[in-house]
Order: sequence, then structure tokens, then C-alpha cells
Amino acid sequence: NVLILDFGSQYTQLIARRVRELNIFCEIKPYNNLPEDLEKYKAVILSGSPFSVRAEDAPHPNLSQIKGKKPLLAVCYGAQYLAHFGGGAVAPSNTREYGRANLSYIKDGETFFESISEGSQVWMSHSDTIKDLPKGATVLASTHDVENAAYKLENEDTYAIQFHPEVYHSTDGKQLLENFLVKIAGLEQTWTPDAFVDITVAELKKKIGQEKVILGLSGGVDSTVAAVLLHKAIGKNLHCIFVNNGLLRKNEFEEVLEQYQGMGLNVKGVDASARFLDALKGESDPEKKRKTIGRVFIEVFDDEAHLVEDAKWLAQGTIYPDVIESVSATGGPSATIKSHHNVGGLPDFMKLKVVEPLKMLFKDEVRRVGKSMAIGDERLGRHPFPGPGLAIRILGDITAEKVSILQEVDHIFIKGLRDWGLYDKVWQAGAMLLPVNSVGVMGDERTYEKCVALRAVESTDGMTADWVNLPYEFLQKTSNDIINKVPGVNRVVYDISSKPPATIEWE
Ligand code: XMP
Repeated sequence: NVLILDFGSQYTQLIARRVRELNIFCEIKPYNNLPEDLEKYKAVILSGSPFSVRAEDAPHPNLSQIKGKKPLLAVCYGAQYLAHFGGGAVAPSNTREYGRANLSYIKDGETFFESISEGSQVWMSHSDTIKDLPKGATVLASTHDVENAAYKLENEDTYAIQFHPEVYHSTDGKQLLENFLVKIAGLEQTWTPDAFVDITVAELKKKIGQEKVILGLSGGVDSTVAAVLLHKAIGKNLHCIFVNNGLLRKNEFEEVLEQYQGMGLNVKGVDASARFLDALKGESDPEKKRKTIGRVFIEVFDDEAHLVEDAKWLAQGTIYPDVIESVSATGGPSATIKSHHNVGGLPDFMKLKVVEPLKMLFKDEVRRVGKSMAIGDERLGRHPFPGPGLAIRILGDITAEKVSILQEVDHIFIKGLRDWGLYDKVWQAGAMLLPVNSVGVMGDERTYEKCVALRAVESTDGMTADWVNLPYEFLQKTSNDIINKVPGVNRVVYDISSKPPATIEWE
């Protein structure tokens, strides 16, 4: 296990991902809250930071339990921190030290740089530079502008690098991490999805015993993988609840429910469409729609949870990025703030003990774990779909008729993407029903009907996105199908906005 001490860099999560890609487990902890069980960590990595070490309010943790006692790799700010407090000097740099650079010197015979040659591209992002090395340090590598690009401290396994090995632009970054973690720190590369499943199932069995667990399935990847893991551990004592809020894709509720049952899950489908639509009646403000859906979901879920006698646990599909976000919102170093709704009077299911089997995994790891448990691609490869569903794709107020129109349009679009082999090239796709009527002509008749916008984006995390250059022939066919087959729609447009400045959803 590797400990990554977070000084608030935007790249800290990337360090964790690269380490995990090497099949080595690691955890991120805020620098100001050192774990008490330090002995379980075989190596420590210090992250970058938006701070200057020279600033008074910069992170200056006491590393005496770590430095010289365990293999330590200090990245960027971390490297400057070690220099600053080890008798070296850190000063503002006078040349540009952002972006690509190449290692022009690498010290011979160093395990740290094994299989990496001079000329290797590295990624810099810092405004301070290490002018003088700390006491007992040797330069291991330099670039044209940065003499002290890498150094090590004599007589200890302490290494420091000014560049970021975790970003893909540092072409040998993964090799460098492997050299440090495997060759120097002696860690084994045994953290695979299969190993994760075995360990987690054993832990869940021990933790939960014969008690009953309730879990809300959404049809998405995270809740599905969490359910299958728990099912392996406790079988029928896992009670899954899958709620139809009436805002899902066409046939989604029935099809997904059937798939879940096919996996052997103990799942109850609850059709609450009418309850949701009723609560949403006349509401056209996007945020109020979201809140209403959230509230009704909690009511429905609470009612259902009561029907499971003697339940002790609530399982959730929380994943690692959510955990890191909430840590940083409660005193960690990075600036992310997550808003929490204050629900007046906690519903009963919130009084249950919480179990979150995926809370140490990134999204791609959740998929790999799902694959190793033989969950099919129709679940794991599914595009993200927002919790409030079609409600935030129907601009303005929601009626059963509008939902049904949009379900038909969306179905033609998504099925078309699959039929044309485009589905997996797109990160997310859907249709928006606009609150606009426009004039058309069908046969000899004038029409005055609805307009829909199709949206398909490429993205890695939904934070930024670009529209997909779908083939004109595909758009042409899809538009024809929609207008000919969906009564009430006479115009189709394609959204060519990127995020930012637009968002993926229209509401
Ligand atoms: P935006 O529209 O903000 O969407 O660019 C980014 C990603 O988040 C999804 N999204 C939501 N998911 N509840 C959700 O569960 C919501 O209220 C919500 N709003 C947006 C969106 O589908 C996209 O994947």
C-alpha cells in the first residue's frame, strides 16, 4: 500500500491512477491529517500544490515519521518542500517553466532512471524553482532550464522530481513511478480486479454477517457493480430496490429489471412514475425539478426500505472521486466544495449503517472489477445518464406526453448510434425536447410542431466535453426517422457546442 500525501494539486488524483495502473494499491490523504497507522504504508509520495513553499500559509507538515524511514518520492511542490526545509533554497524562477521540457542530463547508473534515456519528455508546471539543493543531495537529472529537475538524498530512499510523472505528457512517467515503487521500494504488483473482488467479498462477509442490506439500483455502472459484489458476499440478504421515476429511457425499466433478475439479484422494481410526474406538474425551473425528483426519490425509497424487515445496512455505489471531494470539502487542501442538501428530518433508511464497497475505486477500475465479475458490456459500457433523467432534457414543464415523445426520439437516436457502430465512440448522447414550436409542411399540410436537439459528446469525466463529429449520413437518416416516426416533432437540430462554455445537459 502506498500513501499519497495531498498538498492540493489538481494532479493528485492522477498520481493515484498511475500507481493503480501499475497494479499497486494506494490511498490519498490530506497532508494535514497524517494517518495514524503509518506502518501499513510501504512508500509515500508527496503531491504538487498550488502554493509556494515560501508562503506562510503553505503546507509545511512534519515529515519526521516518514523521511529517511520509508521510501519517499516528492513531486513538484513536494520536491521544493524537501529542499526548502533541508537547507536548500527555493526562489521564483525567471524562465518559463510550464509545459513540455526534455531531460538533457541523467546521472548514469541510477535505478530511479532505469530504462529512461536522455531526451525523455517531461511535463513542468511550477513558478518557483530549486536554486540550491538540500544538504546531502545529488542531482539525478536536469532539463535545459531546470538544473535540479531530479535529486536524491544520500543514505536514504528519498527522491524528488520537479516535473510531473503522473501526466501523460511525461512520456516515461509511469516507468519512473515503477522504478521507484517496484525496484526501489520493493512493492509487489498484485492489486488486480480479481484480487480486489476476493478481498472485498471476504471483508463484506465479515463486516455484515447475517444482517440485511438495502441498496438502490439505478441501472448505472456503480450501483450495479456494488450490488454484484455484495450479492457475492451475502446473497439474498441483499435487498435491491430499483425505482422507475417515469423519466427513464424507453423500455429501460423493464429491460434493466430483467437483466438484474438474470444476474440472480434479489431486486424489487417499484414503478413510481405517477408519483414523480404528479410532483413535477407545472414545474419548469431546472433546479426545482432536480430538488423535487430528489425529494420524491427519498420518499419512495424510504417507503420501500420500511418493507424490508430488520434491515441494518444501506449500501451505496460511492466511488473514490466522491470520497476525495467530500474530504477536501471538510478541511482538505484543495478548493472543491460540494453542496449538501439539508433534508429536514432524516428518513429512516438514513439511520442505517452505511457500506460502500467501491469507495476506493476510480470509475475505470469499477468497470474492470465489473468485467472480472462477468457483468455484461450492456451495463458496463453504458453511457452516463443523469439521475433526474429526461426531466432535465425536457426544457420547461413536464407532462406524460412530452416524456413519451422524447423517449421515442431518444430511442431512435441511441439505437441508431448502436446500429451504426458509433455508440462506443461517444461518451454520452441524448435528445432534448425544446419548448419551441416551428412551422413545417408535411404532405400538403402546414404543421406547427416541436423541435428536438440531438447531442453527442466526447469526454473523459464530463467536466469538459466536445461535440462529436457524427457522419452526415447518420444525422440525415436519424433526422428522417425521427420526423417520420414521432408524431408531434417536425424539426431536428444537432448541438455543436463544447463544454465549456455550454454544458452537456441543456438544463
Ligand atoms: P453538465 O450538464 O453539467 O453535465 O455538463 C455533466 C454530467 O453530469 C450529468 N448531470 C447530472 N447527473 N444529476 C445527475 O445524476 C444531475 O442533476 C445532473 N446534471 C447533469 C450529465 O448527464 C453529464 O454526464
